[in-house]
Parts: sequence; C-alpha cells; structure tokens
Amino acid sequence: MSSAYAVNYHLRAHKRDTFIEFIKSLLLNPFVLHTRIKDPDHSAWSPLGPPGTIQALQAAQTTQTTQTGSGLDRDLDRYCEVLECIEELIVDHIHNHEQGHPELSRLVQLVPSIGRFYTPLPLKTAFLKVNKARAIAARRNVPPSFNDIRYILNSAQVLAIHPALRLVTFDGDMTLYADGADFERDSQLVGLIIDLLKHGLHVAVVTAAGYPGNAARYEKRLSGLLEGMRGSNLGSVCLERFYVLGGECNYLFQYNAASGSLVYIPEESYQSEAVKCWSNATDRITDLLNIAQANLESYRTELGLTDDRAFIVRKPRALGLCAAPGVKLTREVLDECALGVQKTLNNYLYLGKLKAAARGDASWVSIPFCAFNGGNDMWVDIGNKLIGVQILQQYLGTHGHETLHLGDQFLSTGNDIATRSACCTIWITSPEETAEVLNDLRDLLESRA
Ligand code: IMP
Ligand code: MG
Repeated sequence: MSSAYAVNYHLRAHKRDTFIEFIKSLLLNPFVLHTRIKDPDHSAWSPLGPPGTIQALQAAQTTQTTQTGSGLDRDLDRYCEVLECIEELIVDHIHNHEQGHPELSRLVQLVPSIGRFYTPLPLKTAFLKVNKARAIAARRNVPPSFNDIRYILNSAQVLAIHPALRLVTFDGDMTLYADGADFERDSQLVGLIIDLLKHGLHVAVVTAAGYPGNAARYEKRLSGLLEGMRGSNLGSVCLERFYVLGGECNYLFQYNAASGSLVYIPEESYQSEAVKCWSNATDRITDLLNIAQANLESYRTELGLTDDRAFIVRKPRALGLCAAPGVKLTREVLDECALGVQKTLNNYLYLGKLKAAARGDASWVSIPFCAFNGGNDMWVDIGNKLIGVQILQQYLGTHGHETLHLGDQFLSTGNDIATRSACCTIWITSPEETAEVLNDLRDLLESRA
C-alpha cells in the first residue's frame, strides 16, 4: 500500500463501509461491460460511415439506448453471476468461522476488515426484487450505488433470517422516530411492531438515550407505540415480549400488560459476571468520563464551539456534546470529536492495561465505551449496543442467527455498528425505510405461520 493510498484510506474509513465498497467495485464490471457499443468484428459500422463520423456516433447511441429484451436479460445475468459469487464467499466465510479459523476465509483475504455473518445471504434473489424498483440492470449511466447495495443486503438479510427470527431490536432515533422526537401514535410503525409481537417475536428498543431508571422518560419517548399496544387486542404474553434497553446496555425495562407501562428490571437479574465486573467499577467509570470530558472541552475550544453553539451534558454513565437550540453542528465537526475521543480513551485504556500488567494486578478490567456522532450531537456512553444485544440474547435465550437489529448508525463513528458482532443487522436511513423493511418482514412471517 503506497503511503498516499494508506493516508487516503485511513482518512476516509469512517465514511465508508468496506463490504459495500467491495460489492460496488465488483458490480462495476457488469456495468462497464454492458455498455459496449459495437460488435467485435466492426461490421456494424460499415454501412453507416467510419468510426468518429456523426452517423457512426448516432448508430452507437441507438445501440446503447434501444436495448432488446435479450440484451436486458444478459445484463441481469451478469449482475446475478457476480452476486452468486459473493453468496459463495459468504458461505465459505461462515464455514471458516464455524470451524474456528476465520483467517482462512477468502473473504477475509479480499476484505480484511470483514466481520461475522450469522446467516448466508441470498443476494441474487434480493437483487432481482430490488432491481424491479431501482432498475439497476437497465441503467446505462448510473452504476450500482451505495444505496442500491444497502437495499440488496437488507432485502437478502430479511429473506434469510425470517424462518428462524425470534428477537428484533430497534435503534430509537432515526430508526423509529426523528432525532430527539417521540414515537407518534399515527406512525405506521406502531401497527408493524405490534404485528411482530403478534407473531410471537421478542421486540426491544436498544437506544443510546440514557435516563437512569426513569421509566416515565422512556414512556414519553415511546408514547405512540405504548398507546397502540394498550389499545391492541393482543394478549399479555405477546405484549410482555416488549423491552426497552436504554443507555446502550445500562437500563432495562419490560412492558407490563396490567398497568400498560414500562417496568424497570434490576440489573442483578440479567447482568453476566463479565458485565458486573466493569459495571460495578464506579470509580473507574468516573475516571474515564473525566478524561473524556477534559478531551471534549479542549475540542470545543479548538473547534470554536462556543457556549452559544454547543454545551456539554454529564450523566452518571454518559457525556454529551449537544447543539445549542437552533444550531446545526456539521457532520465533520461531530465526526472529529467522536474519532478524537475514541482515540484518547483507547490510548488511556491501553496504558491502564499495561500498567496493571506491570504491577501484576490481575483484577484490572477494561471499561467498554461508545463515542459516536448522533447526528446533531456527540456522545460518549459507558457500554455499547453490542453488550446491549448480548444482554437481551442471554436474557431471552436467542442467538445471532435468530436476532435482527435495525439501525441507522453503521459507520465507525456510529453506535449501531457494534451490534454486528452479535447478530444480523439491517442498515436503514429513516423511519420510512424501517417501515418498508417491516412490511416485507410481515409478508414473510405470514408465510411461515
Ligand atoms: P439512538 O439513535 O436511539 O441510539 O439514540 C441516540 C440519540 O439519543 C443521541 O444522538 C442523543 O440525541 C440522544 N441521547 C439522549 N441521551 C443520551 C445519552 O445519555 N447517551 C447518548 N445519547 C443520548
Ligand atoms: Mg439512531
């Protein structure tokens, strides 16, 4: 890797998804090849004049734009062929993971940062479905885009997981409702989530929003959905499969059908020994948040985030940099803070580990954290959504191939990306897209019933 390439790669990594970029690069081949404009033997040119003349140019454009049915089929076949190859790579990757040697996977060689897959992905079938709406194979000027591929991956994931699905977890802001807004009663997501419960699935909102032990605050944020649940004709067994896990993984609540409200579940009843180790280390948590706060204060000064533009919020297990009312902070500034704090805290924890090893302190534990760009704010939370999903999986007895997380933050400065290490995921960009995914899922669940 040349140094210019390395610098470019590292400076852009937080804006890219390497697997989507990989698929995009492979789909460029069919895109380029199907825009061929002349026969190899050049015979098509002879009656129309030599190459470069106006007649030849017109003929070439006609060949490009008036494609026959069989030409379209060929283009479709080429895209399908590439996607079938990627399907095989994923199966090989899963197999190598299961055998305990993921490093032997060919996908790891091709995309070194690739994570785990909990199900195979029927990409060809998904492509044929997505292609109907997005006309990917018929396009001559616009190659398969990031969003095309995101849609294909989402569709394939829903198809693959639906037979075994037992737990669906949702991010809150931008997945179920707009940033900072409450769940509205007339949102189509109310009915769609109630449908999931009707099918016997566990449903949980796993949100960064941290209101320590405060059920009323979560009830307000989720008011429209809870109202819908109270008014539904579902029995208590189904309704009580609904959970809220706030502060990434810190505050768990369950819906109570008799009172129609959320009930706090004490952490002793679900925290594993590993989680208790760091969760009870309150002094260490305070130290970590102090370091993060000092770091964030210096970023505020450096980036010109004066009191009239942004302010800092400190909670027992979180630290936020929030925009002043009416102010929009740029993505770049928030990413800068998130990446900077991530680096500072990782260095701090790494040094702490080295020092503990040097003095022979075997009781030292790392404190998990999540520093992310929330859209118009930036937060450092103690814990993360990987631990959040794992807590629910242990509590409810579900596994990676039975769990689906839907969220909007899957870049390295986001807080949903951590869930990829525990379960299948769907990357949406708005509550409307969440509804589209749930509509597809509902049809598939109906067919399995
Ligand atoms: P999520 O998208 O549901 O994970 O919620 C993330 C958003 O919750 C952040 O962007 C904040 O606007 C909001 N939020 C409120 N309290 C907290 C907190 O304690 N930690 C992190 N985010 C919080
Ligand atoms: Mg979100």
